[in-house]
Amino acid sequence: MGKILLEVNNLKLYFKTKKGPVQAVDNVSFTLEEGKTLAIVGESGCGKTSLTKAILRLLPRNIMEYSGEILFEGVDLMKYSDEQFRKEIRWKKIAMVPQAAMNSLNPVMRIEDQITEPLFIHNRDMTKEEAVKRACEVFQIVGLPLDFMRRYPFELSGGMRQRATIAMALVTNPKLVLLDEPSSALDLLTQANLMNVLKKIKKEFGTTFIMITHDIGTASELADEVAVMYAGEMVEKCHAEYFYTDARHPYSRKLMSSVPTLREDKELVFIPGQPPSLINPPSGCRFADRCDQRFAKCSQPPEAVELEHGQQVKCWLYTEGSEVKKHA
Ligand SMILES: Nc1ncnc2c1ncn2[C@@H]1O[C@H](COP(=O)(O)OP(=O)(O)O)[C@@H](O)[C@H]1O
Ligand SMILES: [Mg+2]
Repeated sequence: MGKILLEVNNLKLYFKTKKGPVQAVDNVSFTLEEGKTLAIVGESGCGKTSLTKAILRLLPRNIMEYSGEILFEGVDLMKYSDEQFRKEIRWKKIAMVPQAAMNSLNPVMRIEDQITEPLFIHNRDMTKEEAVKRACEVFQIVGLPLDFMRRYPFELSGGMRQRATIAMALVTNPKLVLLDEPSSALDLLTQANLMNVLKKIKKEFGTTFIMITHDIGTASELADEVAVMYAGEMVEKCHAEYFYTDARHPYSRKLMSSVPTLREDKELVFIPGQPPSLINPPSGCRFADRCDQRFAKCSQPPEAVELEHGQQVKCWLYTEGSEVKKHA
């Protein structure tokens, strides 16, 4: 096994609302090896964005609980003060391309000025020439022509703007990059090009990625691990090579069967119903009421178990001694 870059233990992020606490991230634990890519999939509202924000401590004002451990290179980031976190971690070691980032570039600033900005924040002594040199390097890495640097965001296509946001995340040479649905708003060809850029970065620089995506098919090109979020919990984490054939959680399987493939002409399955509210979620398995394999035990919260291909699954079907497992 490679070196563990990130280890998250029992991470919780609850928001305060008038209707009660929203349990957006609930006791999430996982590890990620250096240089690997973890894809996070799951329906909208299941806490994927909240998880990445919790890791990068980008928190709204209405937090109610924020607890657990975030070990980065073996050191618990939860113990850092906000000031320390901002100076030593955010952008410098862990960067993020937020959801819809390409539409939130500053319209009145040239791309060059936006890309060099994180460098000046972290390195006050850096000269303009040095910063522009580094910006040119990352521009080349993401495959953008250098003369685009002096342009404004509106002068770039969607795919190019998304590359620019990735360049911005890479400019400080972070070890871990969080990508929140980087290819959602792009057409298929542009998505494929973007995945090739990310694959190249991963290979050449050994960058570690956490990529949230709706598109399991796209994720398969980059991901080494796939995690499935459901109603604030990570219900399965699995090596990518097994996920596509041997995901075990009934929710993961439903997600997989809702993915169209070019190779087989199978029927698309939509998952009836919707995830539960994260205010007072069900006390047992949160997927139970949509699961066609549920049984009596599912009224209690399942513990994570590890299966033969390293899948970590929160489901009673696979618990030691479960009678149902034999028939699953
Ligand atoms: N600041 C906030 N205050 C209250 N609820 C929030 C806040 N941010 C997100 N949520 C809620 O947390 C849940 C998880 O949201 P999110 O992490 O954005 O999910 P995803 O990225 O999987 O779509 C949703 O129910 C969302 O409405
Ligand atoms: Mg989201």
